[in-house]
Amino acid sequence: MAKSSGKQSANIDRRSGDATNAKEPRDDYGRDAPLSYNKYLRVPDLIQLQICLSEPAHHDELLFITVHQTYELWFKQILHELDAAARQIEEDRVFAAVRALRRVAEIEKILVAQLHVLETMTPLNFLEFRDRLKPASGFQSMQFREIEFVSGLKDRGLLACFKEDDFALARLGARLEAPTLGELFFALLGRRGLNAPLDDPSLDETTRQQRYRHRVQAVVELLTHHERFPAEFMLAEGLIEHDELFQLWRAHHVRMVERMVGTKRGTGGSEGVNYLRTTLDQKFFPELWEARTHLSLDHAGQGCPFHPTAERRDL
Ligand code: HEM
Repeated sequence: MAKSSGKQSANIDRRSGDATNAKEPRDDYGRDAPLSYNKYLRVPDLIQLQICLSEPAHHDELLFITVHQTYELWFKQILHELDAAARQIEEDRVFAAVRALRRVAEIEKILVAQLHVLETMTPLNFLEFRDRLKPASGFQSMQFREIEFVSGLKDRGLLACFKEDDFALARLGARLEAPTLGELFFALLGRRGLNAPLDDPSLDETTRQQRYRHRVQAVVELLTHHERFPAEFMLAEGLIEHDELFQLWRAHHVRMVERMVGTKRGTGGSEGVNYLRTTLDQKFFPELWEARTHLSLDHAGQGCPFHPTAERRDL
């Protein structure tokens, strides 16, 4: 918190310590003034959104809020790029989708690094305001769940923790209905002549497993014959990088959480670190990972459909 000067200034917000008065509406950009940095970026609005709950405001709570709000802004940008990539894949604009995923990867690298800013807060300092946060938790990050859903990890059960939040329910409900990036990618491979049938939960388990194996095999062909499908290969690389970086974030987050609170229960009520550990192996695109296991230098001898001497076979 900003140190009190002794004289109470009307422009200092006691809760966040910033030099604004949160109670006044922000209509002071100057209605007729020319465009300026503050006016364009709505900086006066932005810097009054960090409202500390601790009383008096704990010095580190501003950092805690700033880091989380920054995450949410980056999540918004990631969703913007993933939605663009989804559209572009559907429209066969594969290089455009690759570029969108490149941007996602660069943002995700920042997201991993950003966790360490929070580690400059000591565990004891965090405890000084942690109880105020209950029952709120990162578990309830709507945009984090949206990224998971669009990337392929759809879990309808998560809607329960948004049951009193119509805004989140509408967004997550729409995401549950929309195709995932994985589905769009395999539909694209199908249009390129590879046998990559989509999953269909209404089918029996044996057929679903068989379809999964076909998709893995389609990725093996793609990775082996990348000169034949250069754009699709780059897209597969972009998708697995997104997947890998997200898993890296999970791994850094759980370490940071343990360093901060040990094995205490989470503010959201879960088992904390023990719960988070169960999420570490989740994958958006399991077929892309499994295909690596089946890659072989003897691919041509294994009935490769693209080998000049091979008879066409059903992949
Ligand atoms: C002092 C820092 C932090 C601590 C101690 C912490 C702790 C936890 C704990 C214990 C959970 C499990 C759920 C619960 O019961 O609350 C959790 C989940 C989560 N946290 Fe954090 N967290 C911290 C910072 C962050 C930051 C900066 C983000 C960025 C958005 C974040 C995002 C999430 C997300 C998305 C989940 C849900 C993960 C999943 O279900 O897969 N956390 N956190």
